[in-house]
Amino acid sequence: MTNLSVNINKIATLRNARGEGAVPNLLNFATNIEKYGAQGITVHPRPDERHITYQDVLDLKPILKTEFNIEGNPSEQKFIDLVLKVVPEQVTLVPDVEGQLTSNHGWDTIKNKEFLTKTIALFKEKGIRVSVFVDAKPEMVIGAKECGSDRVELYTESYAANYNIDKEKAITPFILTAEKALEIGLEINAGHDLDLNNLRYFNQKIKGLKEVSIGHALVADALHFGMENTVQLYLRELL
Ligand code: PXP
Repeated sequence: MTNLSVNINKIATLRNARGEGAVPNLLNFATNIEKYGAQGITVHPRPDERHITYQDVLDLKPILKTEFNIEGNPSEQKFIDLVLKVVPEQVTLVPDVEGQLTSNHGWDTIKNKEFLTKTIALFKEKGIRVSVFVDAKPEMVIGAKECGSDRVELYTESYAANYNIDKEKAITPFILTAEKALEIGLEINAGHDLDLNNLRYFNQKIKGLKEVSIGHALVADALHFGMENTVQLYLRELL
């Protein structure tokens, strides 16, 4: 079974649109999303705090009952300190640069081997599972394993972009990369641009997929269908 971790960044974006305002209430949404059946909550605090703030992460930790996944770039000492303080179930390391609109590539786990190895060890010492965000390339998965990672998160933007053109071609590199991950003992997550249109096929084709983290499309769908229905709709795609 594949778990759904809901990325709640966009709820914070809406809240922040009114400066200091507290509507919608991020913590209530997180609790409700769990009640509606999601198996995890994901946040991606960025240095400019344009959606999730560092304080949000601290406030979420004591109220969450499911898996807490914090994504971000560990080149920022502030990010490392936050994760070590909060001790979530999982940290996902993402190589995004400051001011970037959204994550747009995975790690080069070969070039960054020394840095990743050192950083992953810090988190694992605290008992935090580590997932490394990678493009669908078997050599990047092998690199992640050599750095000591527990999981990889496959960056699914190219799959989503090509799904409606040729879904078999779009999924092929993901199948090959996932097979390599399983072969060398790495667990598999996936995320980016997954939605109600492309999720079921991805989940059917990627054997051993543990978790998808979905934000943008899910929160947009919730504007139409309501959050409770929307979480149910996504869970149904993962059956
Ligand atoms: N995974 C990572 C590493 C991300 O940075 C994001 C976006 O914050 C997601 C998954 C979720 O992507 P989307 O918002 O397109 O569902």
